[in-house]
Parts: sequence; structure tokens; C-alpha cells
Amino acid sequence: MSNNNSEEMVVTPWEVSGKIDYDRLIQEFGTQPLTPEILERIQKLTGDLHPQLRRRIFFSHRDLDWILQRYEAGEKFVLYTGRGPSGPVHIGHLAPWIFTKYLQDKFGAKLYFQITDDERFLYHDNFTMTEPRKWAYENALDLIALGFEPDKTRIIMDTKNMGAMYELALRIAKHVTYSTARAVFGFQDSTNIGLLFYPAVQAVPAFLESALVGHNVPCLIPAAIDQDPYWRVTRDVAPKLGYYKPAQVHCRFVPGLGRGGKMSASMPETAIFTIDPPELAQKKVLSAFTGGRATVEEQKRLGANPDICSVFAYEYFLFMDDSEIEELRFNCLSGNIMCGDCKQILAERVKKFLVEHQEKREKAKDNFEEYLFNPKDA
Ligand code: TYM
Repeated sequence: MSNNNSEEMVVTPWEVSGKIDYDRLIQEFGTQPLTPEILERIQKLTGDLHPQLRRRIFFSHRDLDWILQRYEAGEKFVLYTGRGPSGPVHIGHLAPWIFTKYLQDKFGAKLYFQITDDERFLYHDNFTMTEPRKWAYENALDLIALGFEPDKTRIIMDTKNMGAMYELALRIAKHVTYSTARAVFGFQDSTNIGLLFYPAVQAVPAFLESALVGHNVPCLIPAAIDQDPYWRVTRDVAPKLGYYKPAQVHCRFVPGLGRGGKMSASMPETAIFTIDPPELAQKKVLSAFTGGRATVEEQKRLGANPDICSVFAYEYFLFMDDSEIEELRFNCLSGNIMCGDCKQILAERVKKFLVEHQEKREKAKDNFEEYLFNPKDA
């Protein structure tokens, strides 16, 4: 849980730093790569492969093949994902949610979305309950703005809904020893005891549908790979409680606009927040790190490097379709386009996206209540 300033890769739920080697993460975390066979099966079932799958932005999984097999045999699954409300949502957070929406649409799946105001209160030394509660509401608007179905989406606010979750959290907690939790999460003597219990709370929604309907329902968790430690513990406990192990599909991190590193709220100048005024977002894009050369002449002659360019990464993760991205890569490599022009193109897209998203966020205030979890309507 300590800060790490070196290039060494650190990926935990609280810290992502260094150069991320995704193949190594698959090995170290013991997950599986997304194979062409799995993608083919999804394509067959949905008729349409999401760009985040085609581009391997979602790159790793556990038991996704099993989820598909159950689905093919007529057993529906629920989706589960979430947010720790410590501040405004940035567009990196939206990537797994956009993908989750695709899964909801294509598989008709119910979504449990957990907002962990408890986790954020416990984690941030300077937080009272006021900050995470405020951001819980604000962040929920971002989720709703993405167009999730109100009758298939249940937003759980931990401190509000703990009554419905507490018994299950206790049953989970009883099967996780301190030594396991310390090994998985890196807890130290100075860690407060609230955080020691918290992993049981994040495990609950993986079993909630099964507990509420009284029989086992498969659960698939789409999220970036930083959340994986929680699922290792959750999966260990599942058979002890008689539940299915939840499946996961993991995505890469949308980078920040600086040189390397994931988009992170702790570096606001290189993150685009969904509530940023569009002009501010434009400014951030115009100062982004690119893979350009020192001079225009050099760039025309030698081309630039899209693989280290944050502007290219944004287009790749979130905005451009396949033919546009191919064309951009070609033009970048061959020196046909200058970084300033590229930034302008992205800035326009980001601005348009923000204007539309912010309108939808405003509208979300009117039907916010419809999305809230109520144990009676499980
Ligand atoms: P949080 O708020 O840190 O992150 C919310 C979601 O965004 C993902 N994420 C990113 N995805 C792509 N690019 C990035 N730069 C990036 N940064 C963060 C995270 O993986 C996550 O999916 N403890 C959790 C809240 C939570 C949760 C869950 C998350 C509770 N239950 C179930 C996922 C699934 C948290 O603080 O997430």
C-alpha cells in the first residue's frame, strides 16, 4: 500500500505505477489471456464484437468461457462492477463501464453496481463521510448517463445498503484469515481495521443475486485488472459458501495525457474528468504528451511513434473506429500528420463527448431513484 516512485510495476487496487507489462500480470495474477476462440464465441452469441474486445483492451479473464458455456445452456448471468467515490469520474473509468453496457445489452444481463463510500472513507485519511457520499451521488450520475437500463441495473451504495449485505459480508469474512488478507492486499500494522474487513464487502455483490433469489446465478465482473486481488479472495471463499466462483474479464488502463502511467485522479492535469468544462479538457488535450519528433521537418521525414503517444491511445481506447485508427496509425508513422493537428482532432471529439455526456448526466438526476438497489425487487 506504499507509494512507489520507481519504474517497477505495481498494480494493486490502491496503486498502479511503473511500466505495466500485461503479459506478466496474466502470469503473476494467474489469469487467462482472451483467446481468439473465446472472442469467436462472443461474436457468435452477440453478432458483434465490441472494439474493446477486438483491440484486446479487455485482454484477460477468469472463467469467461464457463460463463459463456452456462449462457449457451440457457443460464443467464449477472454483471457486477463498481466505483470507489473519492472524486470525479475520469474518462478512464468509463472504459470498463462502456464495455459493461455492451454486455448488458447483448446478454440482457442485470447489473449490480457497487459504490464503495465505506472503502473511500476508510482509505483517505482526510475524508469525513461527507466527501465519499457526495461523490457517490455524482459518480452514479456518470453511470446512468451511459444509458444503462433502469430495470436491469441496481446501484448499491455501501453505507446505505449495508443492512442487506451485512450477513453475507460476515459469512465471507469468516473464511478469510488475516494472513491471507495481508498477503493479498499488503496490509501493514498501521492499516486501520476497517480496511481489513472491507474486502468482504466488495465480495458481497458477486453472490448477492444468488443469495436473494435462493439459487446459484453466475456472475461476471468487468473491471480493470487493478481490482483483481479482491476477486482472488472472493473466488477462494465461493465454494465454502456454496456459491459459484465469480468470473472476471479484465481491461488495460486508459493512460493519462502525460508520459506513461494510467489516467489517475491524483494527476488532474493529465486526466479528463467527466465534469470538466469542455474548454478545460481541450486545454489538457492540447498539452498532452505525444510520440512526435523534435521538429516538423524531422517528423515529416521520419514519422512519429503512435505506440507511446497519449493522444493516439485516447483515440484507440475510446473514440476512433477501426478504419480511422488504421489511417491515423499510418499517417503518424509515415509523417503525414503533425501532433498539433492530431491533438486538435482529439480535442474536438473530447469536447463533443463531454457536452453530450454532461447533458445526459443532468437528465440522470431525474431518474436516479429508479436505479437504486432495493433488496425487495432483486
Ligand atoms: P475505482 O473507483 O478505483 O475504479 C472504478 C473502475 O475503473 C477502473 N479503472 C480504470 N479503467 C481503465 N483505465 C483506467 N485508467 C482506470 N482507472 C480505474 C477500475 O478497475 C474499476 O473498474 N474498489 C473499487 C470499487 C468497486 C469495484 C467493484 C470496481 C467495488 N466493487 C467491482 C470494479 C468491480 C474502486 O475503488 O474502483
